[in-house]
Amino acid sequence: MRKLDDKTLVVASHNAGKIREIRDLIGPLGFEAKSAADLNFVEPEETGTTFEENATIKALASARASGLPALSDDSGLAIDALDGAPGVYTANWAEREDGSRDFAMAMEKVEMALKEKGAVTPESRTARFVSVLCLAWPDGHVELFRGEVEGQVVWPPRGTSGFGYDPVFQPNGYDTTFGEMTAEEKHGWKPGDASALSHRARAFKLFAETCLGA
Ligand code: IMP
Repeated sequence: MRKLDDKTLVVASHNAGKIREIRDLIGPLGFEAKSAADLNFVEPEETGTTFEENATIKALASARASGLPALSDDSGLAIDALDGAPGVYTANWAEREDGSRDFAMAMEKVEMALKEKGAVTPESRTARFVSVLCLAWPDGHVELFRGEVEGQVVWPPRGTSGFGYDPVFQPNGYDTTFGEMTAEEKHGWKPGDASALSHRARAFKLFAETCLGA
């Protein structure tokens, strides 16, 4: 496992919600982070069929373009009743014909798909959020970290915090959705703290323990 000595890295993302969350997580550790969006890097095509492949594509593109270590996140919602969909295609379900993203529409699509399967009881609506973080160096070396959080898809959507599908995801053991939690509650992570809640915070914890010795 390669350690990260630099305190400067690129957040290899064009997604404002993710960039904010990754900054929340790395900020307390003293990192300076520019995002691929700030640097006007072209968004690479996510041609992989796994979270790991897509995270690697994004991190390597930013590391090579910047000459700095780059941290990417590939994530999504995997719903058991839909055989793991939308999975790696979670962002695509929100895409409109003009290329813009509409998550209210995406959440409706998920609900329609669940209704078609007759998945109306809480037990039949189990799901997990998955986040795979990839730290890539300009020489092509990569480290991967996966975090998952189990929960269920609720309807109607609740809460306006966070981003993406947060209002329809309720983690196990909570009666609030990610959309109803503050950022601190959703991450459930502080440097040196043993616990983490969100998929991204869980992957981040592995990254920090492995590459930073945090
Ligand atoms: P990608 O990793 O850029 O391909 O997109 C992942 C998609 O999954 C995002 O656009 C979000 O819609 C969704 N997603 C990932 N993580 C979260 C989260 O923490 N909350 C809500 N939606 C998320």
